[in-house]
Amino acid sequence: MAFETPPRTIAEADVTNFASLSGDFNPLHTDEDFARARRNQESGRVAIVTGGARGIGRAIAEKLAKNVKCRVVVADLDEEGKGVAKSVGGYFVLADLAKPEDCRTVVRKTLKRFGTLDILVNNAGIQHIDPIENFPDEEWDRIMAVMLRAPFILTKSVWPIMKAKGRGRIVNVASVHGLVASPSKSAYVAAKHGLLGLTKVAALEGGSVGITVNAVCPAYVRTDLVAGQVRQQAKVHNIPEDEVLERVFLEKAAIRRLIEPEEVAAMVCYLCSEDASAITGSAIPIDVGWMAK
Ligand SMILES: NC(=O)c1ccc[n+]([C@@H]2O[C@H](COP(=O)([O-])OP(=O)(O)OC[C@H]3O[C@@H](n4cnc5c(N)ncnc54)[C@H](O)[C@@H]3O)[C@@H](O)[C@H]2O)c1
Repeated sequence: MAFETPPRTIAEADVTNFASLSGDFNPLHTDEDFARARRNQESGRVAIVTGGARGIGRAIAEKLAKNVKCRVVVADLDEEGKGVAKSVGGYFVLADLAKPEDCRTVVRKTLKRFGTLDILVNNAGIQHIDPIENFPDEEWDRIMAVMLRAPFILTKSVWPIMKAKGRGRIVNVASVHGLVASPSKSAYVAAKHGLLGLTKVAALEGGSVGITVNAVCPAYVRTDLVAGQVRQQAKVHNIPEDEVLERVFLEKAAIRRLIEPEEVAAMVCYLCSEDASAITGSAIPIDVGWMAK
């Protein structure tokens, strides 16, 4: 009985049958891409970080570059991402991940620039707060497109390359709201629960081909996304804005503070390390004790 599947190298993979790995869904992966990935696989890992222009994504891009020595592709619709990419010696791709074609372009440009890829961090996210009866359909659709469909399309697009290399790391930045709910966040909570479902399916499919897929589930992190919620949360909970931190963001927190983006980035880096090669399909809370309550 075989107890483990040794990682495949690209040299061992069936290069002539690459089209069957990539499927018909996109034209990303030609035999030339595949040959380049094989040539480039020993020259340091390449990571795509979506939503890397600021907040958690920025911290992940910086830590992957510094601690894991990755060449990082920052994919974002905010041009600030260009400066982040430059500062980490990486590469910026302007992309609205609500658009499937932009997701595929991110992977295509990554392969064109670096010839290979090893890590995908699905981090880009948005928020809208309203009770269900007032929740605009178009906000629901956009949240689903950015936070659930984009990770699916990106996963699907990087998969053939990772599978051919026999190694790959995918980390989805979910949330405690992938595990539990809060009122007035129907689309966000549904998308994050869905992202954990995608994480589990991909982990099962990736287990035999050397790809691990995990999610991190932070509680409130000190970023613009949280700062931007203060007014809406005050309105929804009918409390003054200066009480939102204590009464909403830290309501369930045993450790009474916001999480720093670098703390989330550290866990992402760990999940991308060799030490984490037995961890897959996991949803790891970074939640200041929220789940213990
Ligand atoms: N901040 C928190 O408290 C918290 C907690 C748990 C999970 N998260 C998750 O962490 C991730 C990052 O959140 P953050 O707090 O750093 O947010 P942020 O608003 O600071 O950064 C989000 C980034 O995503 C980018 N982005 C948004 N829509 C995009 C699109 N359509 N195409 C490309 N890029 C797009 C933005 O431009 C920005 O750079 C999100 O998935 C969020 O749900 C955040």
